[in-house]
Amino acid sequence: MKTDLKKKLSWLWENMEGCRILYIIGILGTVLYNALQLTVPYFSQKIIDLFLTGENAARNLIEKRELFYELVIAMVVLTIFRTTVVYLVCMDVEHVSQTMLYRIRNVLFRKIEHQDMNFYNTYRTGDLMTRVTGDLDAVRHMVAWVIRSVVEAFSLLLATAVYFLYMDWRLTLCMFGIAPFMLAVILKFRDKVAPRHRELREKLAQMNTAAQENISGNRVVKAFAREDYEIQKFDECNRDYSETNKKTSKTWLIYFPYVETFANLMPVLLLAVGGLFIINKQITMGEYVAFSSLIWAIQNPMRMLGNIMNEFQRFSASADKVMEIYYSEPKIVDKEDAVDLPGRFAGKVEFRNVSFKYEDGKLPVLHNISFVAKPGETVAIMGETGCGKTSLIHLIPRFYEPTEGEVLIDGVNVADMKLAQLRKNIGLATQDVLLYSDTIDGNIAYGDSHLSQKEVVKFAKYSAAAQFISKMPEGYETIIGERGVGLSGGQKQRISLARALAVKPAILILDDTTSAVDMETEKQIQHSLNELDFPCTKIIIAQRISTTKFADKILVIQDGRITESGTHEELIAKKGYYYSLVALQTGEEV
Ligand code: GTP
Ligand code: MG
Repeated sequence: MKTDLKKKLSWLWENMEGCRILYIIGILGTVLYNALQLTVPYFSQKIIDLFLTGENAARNLIEKRELFYELVIAMVVLTIFRTTVVYLVCMDVEHVSQTMLYRIRNVLFRKIEHQDMNFYNTYRTGDLMTRVTGDLDAVRHMVAWVIRSVVEAFSLLLATAVYFLYMDWRLTLCMFGIAPFMLAVILKFRDKVAPRHRELREKLAQMNTAAQENISGNRVVKAFAREDYEIQKFDECNRDYSETNKKTSKTWLIYFPYVETFANLMPVLLLAVGGLFIINKQITMGEYVAFSSLIWAIQNPMRMLGNIMNEFQRFSASADKVMEIYYSEPKIVDKEDAVDLPGRFAGKVEFRNVSFKYEDGKLPVLHNISFVAKPGETVAIMGETGCGKTSLIHLIPRFYEPTEGEVLIDGVNVADMKLAQLRKNIGLATQDVLLYSDTIDGNIAYGDSHLSQKEVVKFAKYSAAAQFISKMPEGYETIIGERGVGLSGGQKQRISLARALAVKPAILILDDTTSAVDMETEKQIQHSLNELDFPCTKIIIAQRISTTKFADKILVIQDGRITESGTHEELIAKKGYYYSLVALQTGEEV
C-alpha cells in the first residue's frame, strides 16, 4: 500500500491528539531559536561598524562606552536565552513523539490481536515485528527530527533572506542565484533514493524473520545439525541488508559533490561581489562581515536538504508498512444486526452443506459437509492426515467462514452471532499446543481469570494433569514455557485440555488432544469427560479407536468429504474405512 505524503502527515497529526498544541509550540520554538541565531551577527555588525572600523570608531569607544557594554551584554543574554529555547523545544518534541509512538504502538497491537487467521497466514512474524519496532522508530524520527529540521532549514533560510534583503538586496539576489541549481540536484536525488529505502526496509524484515524463525525453531536446527547452514543463510540476509545500506549511502555520495560545490561557491561569490560592493561603498565593512558570518545559514540548510530528503524517504517507506496494519480491518467481524445471545448456549452444533476453501488455497478443503451434534452428545471425527479435520472444526468458532453452506449453533448461523458470545461458549484445545510463559495455574485459568484455586485443581484432575503437577517443584505455581520448566508433549496437551475445560464451555472441541498421552491416561481422561459437572457437547478429533469408540456419532472424513457416519457398531457393520482402521489398530479381524 502506497499512500501519498499528505495522507501520511495527516495520519501523524491525527495521532498527535492531545499534544498537538505542544507540537505547535515546539515548531514555533524552532522558528524562534533560528531567528535568534541572527541576533549575534546583527550585534557584531553594530559593534564592528560603531567601535572597530567606522569613521568615528575611536571616539565612539570613549563616548559611547555604555552602548558598547549594552551590546555585548545583550549578545550574551540572547545566546543564553536561545540555548534555553533549544533545550525546551527538544524536550517538548521528544515528549510529543514518544506519546504519539505509545499510542500508535497500542493501536497496532490491538489491530494485530483482532485479526483473522488469514492475516496470520499472510504476514510473517519477523515482518510484523519490524513494523512495530524499526518502522515505528522511523515514524518517531519524522516527528522528533525531520519535520523540525525542515522548519529549521526554512526558517533559517527565510530569516537570513529577510535580513540580507534589509542590508542589500542586490548582493542577496547574487547569493541566492545558486539556490535553483541546488534544488534541482536534491530533487533528482530524491527520485533515486526512494526505491532504495523501500528495498532497505524489505531486507530488514527478511533478516528479522530469519532471526526470529531460528530462535523459535532452534531445536529443529540442532536436531538436524544445521547450524552452519542457518548461520550462512543469516549471513546472506545480513550481507544483503548491509549492502543495500551501503548502496543507499552511496546514492547520496553521487550527489554530494554537486551540493558541496554549489554550497562552497557562495563564500567565493561573496568575496568577489561583496568586495566590489565595499569598494563602491554600497555596503559597509560591518555589513560585509554580517553577510559572511551568516553565509552558513544559507549553506547549511541546503546541505541538510539531502539528509532531510533521505529521512523523508525512510519515513515514507516505513509509514506505508505501519499504516497498512493501522488501517487493516479483520474480515470476520460482528454483523451490524448480529443476534444478541448473552446466555449459555445449549450446544447444538449443525453443519449444513458446508464447503470450504482457504483464501490462498487453490482447491476446496471441505465438500458438502452436513451433520448434527445434539446438546450433550459426543461426536468423534476421524480421517487420515490432511483430510480437513482441523479446517472443519475451525469453522465452529468462525476462525474462517464457509465458502458455501452454514454452520449453526442452537439453530443460529454462527455468522449472525456476536464473536465474543460465540467464542465464550467454546472451549478449544488446538492441535499445536501453545502455553504461555506463566504459572501452570495462570495457564489453566487463562480463559477465566477469576477461577478459584480449587477449581483449577478440579480441571487439572479432569484432564489427568493433577498428578504430574503435584510433583512439580512449585506445584501449580511452577512457571512453564520458554523461561520455565519444560513439559513433555503429553503434559502440555493435558494442561491445554484443562484450559479448554476451565471455561466450562457449552461446546468442547478437542483437536487430537490426547494423541501424545498413554492409553491408561487417555482412559482416565475419557472417563472424566463423561463425568463433567456441566452440560457440554463434545467434538473430538482423534486417531485412536479407543477414543472414538464411545462417541454418540463418528464421522469419517476422506478428502474433505464425510464418507461414513454412525456409531462404532454401525460403522463396523458397514465394513468400510472405519472397519479397516479398527482391524489395523486392534490387530485382529473384528
Ligand atoms: P492432520 O491434523 O494432519 O490430521 O490433518 P487435518 O485433517 O487436520 O487437515 P487440515 O484441516 O489441517 O488440512 C486440510 C487441508 O487444508 C490440507 O491439504 C492443508 O494443506 C490445507 N490447509 C490447512 N491449513 C491451511 C491454510 O492455512 N492455508 C491453506 N491454503 N491451506 C491450508
Ligand atoms: Mg489437524
